[in-house]
Amino acid sequence: MDLYLTGKTALVTGASKGIGSAIAKELAREGVKVFVTGRNQQSLDNLSSEIVAEGNLAPIVFAQDLLAPNAPHEIATAALAALGHIDILINNAGQSQPVDVAGPEEPWTRSMALDFERPRLLTQALLPHFIARKEGTILNLTSTYELRSLNVSAIAKAAMAMWSKQLAGQLGKYGIRVNCLQPGLIDTENIRPYFPGDERRKYAESEIPLQDFGEVQDMANMAVFLVSPRAKYITGTVSVVDGGGTRSAF
Ligand SMILES: NC(=O)c1ccc[n+]([C@@H]2O[C@H](COP(=O)([O-])OP(=O)(O)OC[C@H]3O[C@@H](n4cnc5c(N)ncnc54)[C@H](OP(=O)(O)O)[C@@H]3O)[C@@H](O)[C@H]2O)c1
Repeated sequence: MDLYLTGKTALVTGASKGIGSAIAKELAREGVKVFVTGRNQQSLDNLSSEIVAEGNLAPIVFAQDLLAPNAPHEIATAALAALGHIDILINNAGQSQPVDVAGPEEPWTRSMALDFERPRLLTQALLPHFIARKEGTILNLTSTYELRSLNVSAIAKAAMAMWSKQLAGQLGKYGIRVNCLQPGLIDTENIRPYFPGDERRKYAESEIPLQDFGEVQDMANMAVFLVSPRAKYITGTVSVVDGGGTRSAF
């Protein structure tokens, strides 16, 4: 199926590994010129080499800590300068952040910033551009938030889902779509430490109908569809890719 993405441009955060890296590669396979960012220059350079080795357009690599002062503005400015215009923004950078019930403040501040405030500010920096062009697609990576223990990232992602929904309501008239993509458990460095040894198999067999964690490619497949013109009537949604793990009707 042609996704009609050839010739489009995309900015992907957290593209140096995991889900973001898979999304960037899949977009490049669809003919998209990608601007990839993350902290690790070497990993971004490796991603660039892999994309080029597959015969696709070389990405623009921009190493930047999203938590650094002024980072959203700097990423937005660099991406616009390099790409000329931006069709697709994928806010993917993030990190699981379990905390104790009475723990210190620092992980709260850091994780709320990384998983909500910084993507919000990056999006806001690009909104005048999207509105002026009367087009643009925003995809925000969220999380399972109905947990039974504190994880700041999941709380930040819950805020992100509500923000996305409200933004979608206001931006539809400009032809701009905003959606969320919610992973269940996807096999990346972000979650591997929490399931050592045989824990992954035991958890998956009891909690995931499809019996295992997902792969980053499972996320990339859904992401490229959601940002493509094929999804032109989809906005304000949260798409779940979780092997059936979520126990709720909606
Ligand atoms: N895997 C899952 O099952 C799962 C579950 C729930 C939610 N998610 C969400 O899905 C998204 C991708 O997660 P993943 O599993 O692919 O994680 P990952 O493999 O750990 O990759 C995270 C990405 O975010 C970037 N990043 C982290 N902190 C950053 C910072 N301060 N500044 C700039 N970039 C930063 C990392 O780049 P550098 O290290 O180069 O900075 C990396 O590219 C995240 O938003 C995560 O919360 C994943």
